[in-house]
Amino acid sequence: MSAFRERYGPWALVAGASAGLGAAFARLLAARGLNLLLVARRADALGRLAAELRGAHGIDVRAEALDLARADLVPAVERAAAGLELGLLVYNAAHSAIGPFLDRPLEEHLRVVDVNCRGPLALAHRLGADMARRGRGGIVLMSSLAASQGNPLLASYAASKAFELVLAEGLWEELGARGVDVVACRAGATRTEGWEASRPKESVPIMEPADVARAAIDALGRGPSAVPGALNRLAAFAFARLLPRRTCIRIMGRATRRLYG
Ligand SMILES: NC(=O)c1ccc[n+]([C@@H]2O[C@H](COP(=O)([O-])OP(=O)(O)OC[C@H]3O[C@@H](n4cnc5c(N)ncnc54)[C@H](OP(=O)(O)O)[C@@H]3O)[C@@H](O)[C@H]2O)c1
Repeated sequence: MSAFRERYGPWALVAGASAGLGAAFARLLAARGLNLLLVARRADALGRLAAELRGAHGIDVRAEALDLARADLVPAVERAAAGLELGLLVYNAAHSAIGPFLDRPLEEHLRVVDVNCRGPLALAHRLGADMARRGRGGIVLMSSLAASQGNPLLASYAASKAFELVLAEGLWEELGARGVDVVACRAGATRTEGWEASRPKESVPIMEPADVARAAIDALGRGPSAVPGALNRLAAFAFARLLPRRTCIRIMGRATRRLYG
């Protein structure tokens, strides 16, 4: 635990911490002894989680309600993090626009870009600079199996997850040489508030948030990306190595139409 804290502490920023996987990341990192800066829009949910983690683990927690899509994200996070040494960034938040591309307003697709691409890029740049100067730290970007190919009915979301995957891969090599571990987590279906709220019409094999968060954190320093869960790894392998890309796109389209069509 102390080696983990020395490598990635003393503070971690969890962006998108109020529910689902973000709350699971916060609980895991608290159990490993890191102090936490929790960010999301819902102040009440952040406050409850902060109180739980202070009580359970005796760590310091700061909670900051802000929208990660805001134009002045970097100065807003700098203010929230004033005086803290952030050794780990977990960028977990995402926005998704589910449905036919043309039926969703452009503003919603642009919000996908702001939350899922602009946000992680900006925070990796700002916090990565401090980490590289110190010669230690870690960055986890939550990507998805949807990043591996185009996904009908989720086109902008899947493209944004590909952005996070490829960004993390590049930074894995570049910042890795400066002591900062970077990894993209390519999660499959996970039982979260966001997943339930999307009201899928079919049940699919699903993982628990705590298991996904643990797989992502344990993947730091081991490679540019990780797929939690044996079944998901098998699917990722088949899609990447065994099937033509256009077949993968069509399979994803059929699966997404069954879930949301
Ligand atoms: N669940 C899955 O099946 C699945 C599968 C593959 C990948 N993933 C990835 O895993 C990550 C987490 O997914 P999830 O299912 O846990 O999502 P979720 O249940 O919808 O939770 C998302 C978190 O991000 C926060 N958030 C969303 N938009 C925000 C914004 N504009 N500003 C600040 N905070 C914001 C939410 O809090 P507030 O509402 O309080 O702001 C919440 O804490 C995402 O990156 C997603 O792409 C999930």
